[in-house]
Amino acid sequence: MSDTARCVVVTGAGQGLGRSVAMAFAAQGDAVMVSDIDGARAASVADEIIAAGGTAASAPADVSSELDVIALADAAVSQLGVPRVWVNNAGLTRPAMLHKMEVDDFDLVLQVHTRGTFLGTREAARRMIAADVDGLIINVTSSAGLQGTIGQINYSAAKGAITAMTKSSAKELARRGIRVNAIAPVAATPMTEKLRVDEKLAGRFLDSIPLGRFGEPDEIAAAFTFLASDGGAYVTGQVLCVDGGLYMAS
Ligand SMILES: NC(=O)c1ccc[n+]([C@@H]2O[C@H](COP(=O)([O-])OP(=O)(O)OC[C@H]3O[C@@H](n4cnc5c(N)ncnc54)[C@H](O)[C@@H]3O)[C@@H](O)[C@H]2O)c1
Repeated sequence: MSDTARCVVVTGAGQGLGRSVAMAFAAQGDAVMVSDIDGARAASVADEIIAAGGTAASAPADVSSELDVIALADAAVSQLGVPRVWVNNAGLTRPAMLHKMEVDDFDLVLQVHTRGTFLGTREAARRMIAADVDGLIINVTSSAGLQGTIGQINYSAAKGAITAMTKSSAKELARRGIRVNAIAPVAATPMTEKLRVDEKLAGRFLDSIPLGRFGEPDEIAAAFTFLASDGGAYVTGQVLCVDGGLYMAS
């Protein structure tokens, strides 16, 4: 590892968008802590990065567990250094029309996204503040949290909370040299597989996207590395929609 490699932590990086984000940071020379609730998948992404000549380590963590997230931050510091970038990406969905939604599915989605983002942000900020370094936290929200979606009141609530948490933590942490932003993607990942495979659903969804296609995880990942580049240094408290124009603020 070079002396200048930044430690970048990515949660939920065992597949999908998180995997692409981890690979993108590694490709530009950062040292990436790949984490996922599925430790084997995280380890295999870290192996892939190392095989390509990059620097990575892996750690299993359920982002809704305080102990797991503390252990993840400790592992990052001891193996790769104080995190300079922390990506709160882990997520899941449990869709159902609201009159049919079980309370456990409401709670689970809130726990993983909202509590998970809080815990990741807190542990990242604690390490950055203690080491007196500048840092960046990138959350992952969704158009669901900006405009709502049918059949996903749990996910919309969770992503709406993440949007608000991004702004709140950006205001609070700016004086510490820590920026906080969120990305709202649309990406072809395992999470959106059903939406892409079902012709009727896919057609309706693509009609609502001006660019008329799903984003590729790698092109979404480029927005994360932009925020972490010198060019992103004056950006904080923002939600960057990388979604083919699906959401446009009025
Ligand atoms: N794909 C899209 O179009 C889209 C749109 C808007 C927002 N998002 C958000 O982007 C992020 C990544 O989604 P994706 O499309 O890559 O999904 P994905 O299902 O392909 O990957 C999600 C990853 O998160 C992990 N994960 C789930 N629960 C976890 C937990 N409790 N702790 C740690 N890891 C956990 C999974 O194991 C998986 O590897 C999510 O926050 C998602 O809500 C995705």
